Amino acid sequence: MLFGKSILLIVTAGIAAYKCPELVRRLRELGATVRCVMTDGAKEFVTPLTLSAVSEDKVYEDLFSLTDEQEMGHIQLSRDADVLLVAPASANTLAKMAGGQADNLAATVLLATDKPVLVAPAMNVRMWEHKATQANLKTITSRGVDLIGPVEGEMACGEYGMGRMSEPADIAAAVDSFFNTVKPLTGKRAIVTSGPTLEPIDPVRFISNRSSGKQGHAIAEALASFGADVTLVSGPTKLPDPFGVTMVYIESARDMLSACKELLCTDGRPADVAVCVAAVSDWYVADPSEEKLKKTCGEAPFPMTLRENPDILAALSALEENRPALVIGFAAETENIVGNAQAKLLRKGCDWIIANDVSPETKTFGGDDNTVHLITPAGANQWPAMSKSAVAKKLTTCIASALTSELKA
Ligand code: C5P
Repeated sequence: MLFGKSILLIVTAGIAAYKCPELVRRLRELGATVRCVMTDGAKEFVTPLTLSAVSEDKVYEDLFSLTDEQEMGHIQLSRDADVLLVAPASANTLAKMAGGQADNLAATVLLATDKPVLVAPAMNVRMWEHKATQANLKTITSRGVDLIGPVEGEMACGEYGMGRMSEPADIAAAVDSFFNTVKPLTGKRAIVTSGPTLEPIDPVRFISNRSSGKQGHAIAEALASFGADVTLVSGPTKLPDPFGVTMVYIESARDMLSACKELLCTDGRPADVAVCVAAVSDWYVADPSEEKLKKTCGEAPFPMTLRENPDILAALSALEENRPALVIGFAAETENIVGNAQAKLLRKGCDWIIANDVSPETKTFGGDDNTVHLITPAGANQWPAMSKSAVAKKLTTCIASALTSELKA
């Protein structure tokens, strides 16, 4: 049920807009209050009067209406809502969302909001399949927008295919489950490390490695999508911050360890899981120069003493106080993957190891796919080759079942 929930329904230009009065009714039957925003194009398919009648509220259409702005500014419209629902979402509006445009009231509200956004796309199959639309969908979903549909079927234009808006009852059910599905990791806290570390030699030079951070960031995002309160401690990467995750940016391994230790218990809540994915530099320069070092031009080279970095995974595993219930590490191996990873599990004292095959032919480093084995004290389990985001989701499912059953294997 949706009692007490306030939905801002954004209706854009698609023939499916004629189904919106029915959608408003379905949402209100579930107990929600619904307020509508329409684009100019949407008004060609359903009238503001109809939506106003079924929502029993004013319909907002104009970004530059003095009266509307005085009564209810565009920022307030999104602030008042618990969720923004775009239905039908035209290809044009999806493109505006992806590009961050704000040239009408609908797009402006979508850009100005910090509320969850659900979109029910509706368009011709070719527009749906167009690379531009698919790229826009990828962009907006990576920012946390959830899709409802579309479905396959007969189109108003006479074609058949993917792109029909989901039926109003199905959209209402999806909104209901958005609010009422208890996520398996709700109430759990997670710390994830990701990316490389960077160890200064002088103000402009450093020791680092080629880790992209893709796998660690994907794990942080997957844990958050399961409802966990996630902090991602990341070295420098080129990746966007994952959706719904608190970021802590560090450079050196020693800073990464301090950040992780600080996060072990916040507001009296200990972390439940730590996933150490970062490719931590093994050494740091003992005494980095404060000035840029000069070439020695044949003289004796600058003597660089390297010291060993702390092992963050081992340190978290060995904690006597506030040790997360589940500490998980990664092992990048090129041969004897399972054997080496099992030895690492014992050496580091962690609960699980994800062993990944990083031999050059797998293109794991910097690539989008990963081939892994889950190593626990109970044994080794090989997963088929899959994308790093699929590995993240599968691992998160295992974490959720371990934490909820308090089993570690
Ligand atoms: O010892 P090795 O680098 O192979 O171990 C890899 C695992 O240990 C990864 O989970 C990595 O994040 C973690 N690690 C760490 N601190 C280090 C070295 C590795 O947390 N100094």
